[in-house]
Amino acid sequence: MQAAANAAQDYLGPLDTTVHPEYKPAEDGSTMRALAWFGNKDVRVIDAPVPAITEPDDVIVKVTGTTICGSDLHLYHGEIMTMQKGDILGHEFMGIVDKVGPNVTNIHPGQRVVASFQIACGKCEYCKKKLSSFCDRTNNSSLQNAMYGQRDAGFFGYSHFTGGFPGGQAEFVRVPLGEVNLLPIPDNVPDEKALYLSDILPTSYHAVVDTGVEEGDVVGIWGLGPIGLYAAKWAQLKGASRIIGIDKVPERLAFAQEKLGIEVIDFSKYSDIPKRIYELVPRGLDVAIDCGTFHEPKTVMHKVQKLMMLETDSPETLNEMIVSVRKQGKCGIIAAYAGFANGVNVGALMEKGVRLIGNGQAPVHLYWKEILHDYIMTGKFDPTFILTHRVPLEDMSKLYSAFDTRQSGVEKVFVETKFSSKPSAGCPSVSRVSEWSSIN
Ligand SMILES: NC(=O)c1ccc[n+]([C@@H]2O[C@H](COP(=O)([O-])OP(=O)(O)OC[C@H]3O[C@@H](n4cnc5c(N)ncnc54)[C@H](O)[C@@H]3O)[C@@H](O)[C@H]2O)c1
Ligand SMILES: [Zn+2]
Ligand SMILES: [Zn+2]
Repeated sequence: MQAAANAAQDYLGPLDTTVHPEYKPAEDGSTMRALAWFGNKDVRVIDAPVPAITEPDDVIVKVTGTTICGSDLHLYHGEIMTMQKGDILGHEFMGIVDKVGPNVTNIHPGQRVVASFQIACGKCEYCKKKLSSFCDRTNNSSLQNAMYGQRDAGFFGYSHFTGGFPGGQAEFVRVPLGEVNLLPIPDNVPDEKALYLSDILPTSYHAVVDTGVEEGDVVGIWGLGPIGLYAAKWAQLKGASRIIGIDKVPERLAFAQEKLGIEVIDFSKYSDIPKRIYELVPRGLDVAIDCGTFHEPKTVMHKVQKLMMLETDSPETLNEMIVSVRKQGKCGIIAAYAGFANGVNVGALMEKGVRLIGNGQAPVHLYWKEILHDYIMTGKFDPTFILTHRVPLEDMSKLYSAFDTRQSGVEKVFVETKFSSKPSAGCPSVSRVSEWSSIN
């Protein structure tokens, strides 16, 4: 698939953008450690050139915290098109400003900052409304444009389908348009509380706000990874009366019950999820949110169709949500999908008047200041409740495998570099992935 997609992209040629993915290496030839993609389930920590200021609005960030996201697993499984060998991955990172380009006046070397996973221009129609993930001017992928009619913003470390920008699972990152795409962090907010402003805090918040969870709603959440757990917490803060989480990983089900007190359904025990939901909630759910993952079809029918390349994505969760919500209920899709799914229950969707909402890639800039100031700094939302592990960047390739197979109760991980501070009080101390099963 990668070869065909790369050939199609080459044939179509890049679209015009205001920023460009290729970076100049540092003049002194210095190198850094970084995680790069080489093939399906083949990612390696390599030596790569430290980036230099390449365009005048660039900022170079010395990374003090990075992590792995469920979205990285789609790359790991080769489910996202136009990956190239040697691509540096990672789209959630924070650090200290190392260098700034000549146009940068609002951000200074030495400042602590978090980067948004998307690279926005700050000026287009979408950016003016802070809808940064939908920026029109930073993603050169003509292939995405051909498939979707339009294209998202460029993202860090997320294939050439989203612009081919080197990512944040590295010791240094070049941040194009740094004044737009970096948020300064106050000294009293530790890295462990700031890092997740990059992606999963705004993403989960967007899922809840954009799908429209209201006071008193009964909400179903498919997938209890980091996004699902945060979405459940936001739904509680928005006044949901009842939350039902669906997953099959025993540690994740237990974690959700313990940390959030929500009800759970284990889909390895209840194969008919809508039936179980109607036993619990006879009226049906008011809101359903897909926080799962499209590369794990659960029925033989869709496993086979995917294997035979008859579909790229599975509609199973979508159908379960459509059937489980009440008439005129709302279904939000924050889980990433890539292409086509067969057998969508369009009849139920239409006849029940279900509001099906593709939430899109979350517009981080719309929410990150609000979340930092109104929730993190006030203590209303402590993002560290999902933090289970801390590992060094050197372990990143092992971490992909452990996170993919959900070893040792892993939820969210803080990945440190040689520039990181010591772990904050109450947060996990450093461990090595090879020791995980024995220390948990
Ligand atoms: N839209 C955005 O901006 C955005 C941003 C970040 C992540 N995401 C997406 O959100 C999703 C979740 O991310 P994460 O980091 O929590 O991932 P994760 O892989 O850690 O968690 C996904 C969970 O879904 C569960 N699951 C799989 N199939 C399921 C099914 N049929 N029913 C119920 N649960 C199922 C898995 O067991 C797992 O616990 C991913 O698809 C990711 O790509 C989207
Ligand atoms: Zn992500
Ligand atoms: Zn823009």
